[in-house]
Amino acid sequence: MTAGPKTPRLAVLASGRGSNLQAIIDATADGRLDARVAGVFGDRPRALALERARDAGIEARGLRPRDFACRDDFDAALFAAVAAVEPDFIVCAGYMRLLGAAALEPWLGRIVNIHPSLLPDFKGLDTQARALEAGVGEHGASLHFVTADLDGGPVIAQARVPVLPGDDPDALAGRVLATEHPLMLATLQLLCAGRIRLRDSTVEFDGQPLQAPLQLASNHLRA
Ligand code: GRF
Repeated sequence: MTAGPKTPRLAVLASGRGSNLQAIIDATADGRLDARVAGVFGDRPRALALERARDAGIEARGLRPRDFACRDDFDAALFAAVAAVEPDFIVCAGYMRLLGAAALEPWLGRIVNIHPSLLPDFKGLDTQARALEAGVGEHGASLHFVTADLDGGPVIAQARVPVLPGDDPDALAGRVLATEHPLMLATLQLLCAGRIRLRDSTVEFDGQPLQAPLQLASNHLRA
């Protein structure tokens, strides 16, 4: 699909495999998502995500944290590169480093992250193993606005999956990942259309405060 001058521009931050990034790239290419990926950035120059971006003809840059004196310097360089592609929104899609408050400040309300749990449950790493250990019947993924509070920003939307007998962390992670992609696309579509906004710490949907995260059902989000 051809991107016009008003097509929302996305910068994606990714550290690894980049399957969420690929879902975004594919959806912008075939018109399911009215946006364009303006650049992909990360903290691991050899990440598959950066390769996927280059394969699609998208600017990709990996910066190495060890080349910087401290985290704030790294974040400043990363966000300078991001700002240079003039994104409307920044999407963290498997970006595995903490982001500092100073770098985030100018982007609050325009930066989102996907996390493999039903937040506020299981913030941080190894969510599937911890969910299995806790014996929950349901797990899933959350799309939330990023704040300096790790995985603690206001949640926009969630997708739920059952935990099945015999699940191990990999099986559960695969089931969650399969639902992350439609969750990501449906949420970005609303964000890019201006239907989701962050006002103070509240998510607004079509101008009304969201009482609970939107829920993904049949690839669509419902209140
Ligand atoms: C996903 O599970 C995402 O929720 C988490 O990291 C993983 C990234 O997967 N933040 P991919 O790199 O998009 O394949």
